[in-house]
Amino acid sequence: MKFKTLTFAATIAVLATTAVAHKGAKGMLLERMNGMLAMGKATKAIAPMMRGLEDYDADRTSDYAAILQTHSGDPMLALFPDGMNAAPSVAKDAIWTNWKEFSALAVQLETYATALDLAAQNGLGNAAPANSSMMGGDMTGMMGADMIGMMGGTGVDEKTLETLAGLSVNTLFVQSVQVCSACHTKFRAEE
Ligand code: HEC
Repeated sequence: MKFKTLTFAATIAVLATTAVAHKGAKGMLLERMNGMLAMGKATKAIAPMMRGLEDYDADRTSDYAAILQTHSGDPMLALFPDGMNAAPSVAKDAIWTNWKEFSALAVQLETYATALDLAAQNGLGNAAPANSSMMGGDMTGMMGADMIGMMGGTGVDEKTLETLAGLSVNTLFVQSVQVCSACHTKFRAEE
C-alpha cells in the first residue's frame, strides 16, 4: 500500500512539469517534447483506471502501451542527438556523458510498455502468484544498476519480457511510471 501511494505521488510529479519549457521549441526538440508530452497526457488520462477508479478496459491499456512504445526506446533516443539541450530544453549534459544509463532507461520503458501490451488481457490486479510480491513490493530495490544492466543494451530482451508479461497491468503501469521518474530525476533539470 505504501508502495502504491508513493507511486501515484510519483505519477503526479511526472505530470507536474508538463508543458513548462515547451514554448519556443522547434524541430527535433519540439518533436522530443511533444513525445514526452503525449506520454504525460496519456499517463494522466489512464491513471484513474489503473487505480481502479474506472472500469478496466484492456483496449485502453493496449492503446496506452502503444503510445509509450512509440515514444520510448530507439525512437526516443533518436531525438537526443549529442549535446542537443540548448534552451528551452531542460535536458542535462549527463545524458551524453552517461549515455549507457540514459539509453538503458529508454529501453527499459519500452520493455515495460511492451509487457503492458502483452499483459493487457491479464486484467488490472491479476498478478502472477509466484513473483507478484517480489515484483510488486521490492521492485524499487531492483530498479538500480543491476536491473538496468539486465535490461540495457540494444533493445527489448525477450526473456525479461516474458517474465514481465505475467505481471498485472497495475504493477506494470507503476513500473513504467517509475522509469519516467528515474530518468527525469537524473537527466532532466528541475524547473
Ligand atoms: C530515458 C529518459 C526519459 C524517460 C524514460 C522519460 N523521459 Fe520524459 N523527459 C526526459 C528528458 C531528458 C526531458 C527534458 C527534455 C528537454 O527539455 O529537452 C523530459 C521531458 C518530459 C516532459 C516535459 C515535456 C515538455 O513539454 O517540455 C514530460 C511531460 C515528460 N518528460 C513525461 C514523461 C513520461 C510520462 C514518461 C514515462 C511514460 C517519460 N517522460 C519518460 C527524459 C525521459
